[in-house]
Amino acid sequence: MTLRKIAVLTSGGDAPGMNAAIRAVVRKGIYHGLKVEGIQRGYDGLIHGEFREMTLGSVADIIHRGGTVLMTARSEEMRTEQGQLKAAQQLRSRGIDGLVVIGGDGSFRGAQTLSKQGIRIVGIPGTIDNDITGTELTIGFDTAVNTVVEAVSKIRDTATSHERTFVIEVMGRECGSIALRAGLACGAESILVPEIPYDLEEIILKLRRGHQRGKNHSIILVAEGAGDGYKIGEEIRKRSGFETRVTILGHIQRGGNPSAIDAVLASSMGGKAVEILLEGQSDMMTAFVNQGVVARPLEIAYGPKPPFDMSLFELANQLAI
Ligand code: F6P
Repeated sequence: MTLRKIAVLTSGGDAPGMNAAIRAVVRKGIYHGLKVEGIQRGYDGLIHGEFREMTLGSVADIIHRGGTVLMTARSEEMRTEQGQLKAAQQLRSRGIDGLVVIGGDGSFRGAQTLSKQGIRIVGIPGTIDNDITGTELTIGFDTAVNTVVEAVSKIRDTATSHERTFVIEVMGRECGSIALRAGLACGAESILVPEIPYDLEEIILKLRRGHQRGKNHSIILVAEGAGDGYKIGEEIRKRSGFETRVTILGHIQRGGNPSAIDAVLASSMGGKAVEILLEGQSDMMTAFVNQGVVARPLEIAYGPKPPFDMSLFELANQLAI
């Protein structure tokens, strides 16, 4: 079947770089003579027929912008069989042969139900969490890590002035990647991640050791999946007696202009997704492996979670002795 028309949507939590990926899908598609439609509001928009034709101009001036111009949603309807049937019907009735889904593994599962109904699909991993198996990087992760590092260095200024301990909670769902990378990059005294059990007594012991050596402040970075930042902060304050404050960085981590790394990754993955469809393949995802963007079977994303970078974690601990 010759490919004539493709569509692109963003789904799940937004991530910096999604716009760069949309732009790449649209421009690469048009470059190869395809018609490209944008679907608004993820799968909800697909089910309800919110399509718009994308032109070269409709993706001008977005490569550097955070968020997603197509908007996004976490669709409950797409989890139902009726929603999935409607979604495939919408695509067929518009003569769309291929769909590019930019999102996390939940979004990929939605895509797979469409593939079972004969639509060619390709997933582009877009989430700040970096929790998709099969790719070493997801779009938005690098920017989110940079946002955390910038925020922590500001917090460190005030932590030093007031001689305080700060517990800073970062996003990542059940994955500690943001906490680990950002924690190493900003020299956090302790990093708590869901992948590795921790003992608060040991963390407090480390705080005391640092204090005895003349350290006047400490930063403890907590991945949201490792526990509630407020509860951990309160426990540390009670048990150690150190003046402790808690900051939940929250959705600031999802916004902002993509870093150059994310803009390049997103552009490469967008271009690759169109190539995959043009080659007649389906049920694939774009993946960053060994410094390059490649095509891999989508089902890899449903396997066991990506391995935690234990050596980086150990190094972070050794450096924050
Ligand atoms: O998956 C991205 C993410 O930001 C997670 O890190 C976080 O747990 C979740 O989304 C928050 O979702 P929402 O924006 O729907 O509250």
